[in-house]
Amino acid sequence: MTTRPREPAPGTPAPGKLALPELAELKARRQPIAMVTAYDAPSGRLADAAGADLILVGDSAAMTVLGHDSTVPATMEEMLVLTRAVTRGARRPLVVADMPFGSFQVSDEEAMHNAIRFVKDAGADAVKLEGAGPMLGRVQALVGGGIPVMGHLGLTPQSATMLGGFKAQGRTAEQAVRLYEDALALEAAGCFAIVLEAVPAPVASRITEALTVPTIGIGAGAGTDGQVLVWHDLLGLYEGHAPRFVKQYADLAAEITKAVGAYVEEVRERRFPEEQHTYGMPEEELAIFEEALEDVAERR
Ligand code: KIV
Repeated sequence: MTTRPREPAPGTPAPGKLALPELAELKARRQPIAMVTAYDAPSGRLADAAGADLILVGDSAAMTVLGHDSTVPATMEEMLVLTRAVTRGARRPLVVADMPFGSFQVSDEEAMHNAIRFVKDAGADAVKLEGAGPMLGRVQALVGGGIPVMGHLGLTPQSATMLGGFKAQGRTAEQAVRLYEDALALEAAGCFAIVLEAVPAPVASRITEALTVPTIGIGAGAGTDGQVLVWHDLLGLYEGHAPRFVKQYADLAAEITKAVGAYVEEVRERRFPEEQHTYGMPEEELAIFEEALEDVAERR
């Protein structure tokens, strides 16, 4: 008798999953790639139903979900919980887990250990890490170990302090050339795609033309191969100040406040729950129950 594994082994694409090489083919066909962040099973499921190609379990979760002021406090344990939830919800999109600050900077071994946890324990298809330069060796080590890596250049929020805050990068010719060279180096190191964040549109376009692998832009203009937005920003769920590159497609914070407000009011006015929300019991059981209560009262 042959037995079949219930889940595909790590590293084996699940049935219906977008194949990683398809991303480069989408670029070659000039077909835009849609990526969105997600942080739990419902958002993973909804992003899948909406047709997203890639889901990023971003360390932006530290701000959008966990209430921090920056992405730096996100921990491996938190990111693993969120990634596991997203991979339970999403089927077709490739799920990319964002390696949190401190999880890949120290050594190749530690980066490998943490990336393996994302793939093996949390079901991620790939990982993303910020930066180039000293991180090129890290990318090579992970890709050499069989883990697909997405790069991230431009405004890299984990190093926002060193970059002088959350502001656009590559706005001088010198910085733009460095970004261009970093992107080429990340591709050579084995990245399957590169996020370009808050980069002038002409710079992002030139980088995109120079690479075989897709670029995914956020605040990088319309010339990149794909776009990414943060779930809470695009749905109007995040109450902080949104950067200029955010387009808000819904105002769910207002919708949610309205719905929860209506519920609170109905509870206070005893208008909820109604008959259809409650369970009854057979008359005879109710009568026995009432009698039993009398006995209980007598015994006390
Ligand atoms: O953490 C995140 O959500 C990101 C995207 C903004 C690219 O890195």
